[in-house]
Amino acid sequence: MITADVATVRPATRLRGELRLPGDKSISHRALILSALATGESRITGAGDGADVRSTAAIMRALGATVEVRPDDDGRNVAYRVVSLGADGLREPDTILDCGNSGTSLRLIAGVLAGLPMTAILDGDGSLRRRPVARIIEPLRRMGAVIHGRRADSLPPLTVVGHTPLRGMDHTTPVPSAQVKSAILLAGLRAEGRTTVREHVATRDHTERMLRARGVPVERAEDGDAVMVTLEGGTAVQAIDQHVPADVSGAAFWLVAAAIHPDAELTLRDVGVNPTRRAIIDILRSMGASIEERRVDDAVDPSVGEPIADLVIRSSELRAVELGPADVASAIDEIPVLCLAATQARGTTRIRGAGELRNKESDRIAGIAAGLVALGAEITVDGDDLVIPGGQRLRGGTADSIDDHRLAMTFSVAGLIADDGVAVQRSGSAAVSYPGFFADLEGVRA
Ligand code: S3P
Repeated sequence: MITADVATVRPATRLRGELRLPGDKSISHRALILSALATGESRITGAGDGADVRSTAAIMRALGATVEVRPDDDGRNVAYRVVSLGADGLREPDTILDCGNSGTSLRLIAGVLAGLPMTAILDGDGSLRRRPVARIIEPLRRMGAVIHGRRADSLPPLTVVGHTPLRGMDHTTPVPSAQVKSAILLAGLRAEGRTTVREHVATRDHTERMLRARGVPVERAEDGDAVMVTLEGGTAVQAIDQHVPADVSGAAFWLVAAAIHPDAELTLRDVGVNPTRRAIIDILRSMGASIEERRVDDAVDPSVGEPIADLVIRSSELRAVELGPADVASAIDEIPVLCLAATQARGTTRIRGAGELRNKESDRIAGIAAGLVALGAEITVDGDDLVIPGGQRLRGGTADSIDDHRLAMTFSVAGLIADDGVAVQRSGSAAVSYPGFFADLEGVRA
């Protein structure tokens, strides 16, 4: 997504308010994809309306599912009605499938297409075309898929020629990745026999939960230090209604904003606190953040079993933290905003083994370091490690999101505490996951 706009965020005297956040991006993508694979009508409420989820919705339409969208009753998100004839009723698209900025769309849908009798091309914007795809091409080929990428199969666009039968396999992911795991499981639905994915760090398990809720048994087992998930090919995906909880990765910006601001109290409603997603809450707490978790009455979204809580976050005295590669994998999308929190903590924070951040919507190691340095902070990049001294006063100034939504929101939060505020370049990228972010930012100033 190429945007040229600049948002100016002035320092705030107080932060107060209650926020209803965008529906979880990861869950929204999966709900749309699984609804298109099911026969019948599925309704999805509370879905995020960011550009990434819209890309997935458009692709499901291009594959022949009926996908209707309307504003949700919560006044913030959207409700989808998806009607499909099931995987066998999907049709070959007439055009290239445009994933925009969305790596989740590209990788998950590649897994779906691998098992469908059609030829399709998945492409996206300039950022997506720089993101690695060998990690899905290799395992999908081992299952029998015919799939090609650019530059010796390392980069998108991807061409998937799904006319060959797939066979199940046992695969260990070299890099922890929920996208890779999900692509393999989605291909496994159409494969002969059992498909197992082993991970050394358990990544987000939304696909597994949602498959179970839709009638596909997914076993989970531990084998030494690996977590294994297995499904049997050939099981039909059922149509269901589902409610999407608020996105904990969007909540992360407010958790950090309130924790580092001297006069703040924010309440975040119905946030998904799935154990495989909540690392940001637990890491901030280990740094001394005052985060209260109020379980809502039916603490678990009954349709799929995603736990939900209201979070109340107040101004906090943060301490530095030491994070290793497993923490990075568990809080993969929240590391940039955590770097901002670290600048305000007592002591020096070290984040080791963060190399995977270079493969996101931008090189987030370079991007966070350049942005925070531009705002007057000190941060050292040593290979794949980040060293961030705490107790730093942020002068403020201009920081470039380099068209990465998570960097745009991180630098905007910095503006709330920086002496001179922050001008965030290419701030419109926030709409990839969080349309309405800047309205919320102004709304919590008290
Ligand atoms: C996602 C998985 C993560 C994450 C991304 C969403 C998902 O990517 O960074 O924002 O929905 O499965 P990786 O699987 O590449 O780590």
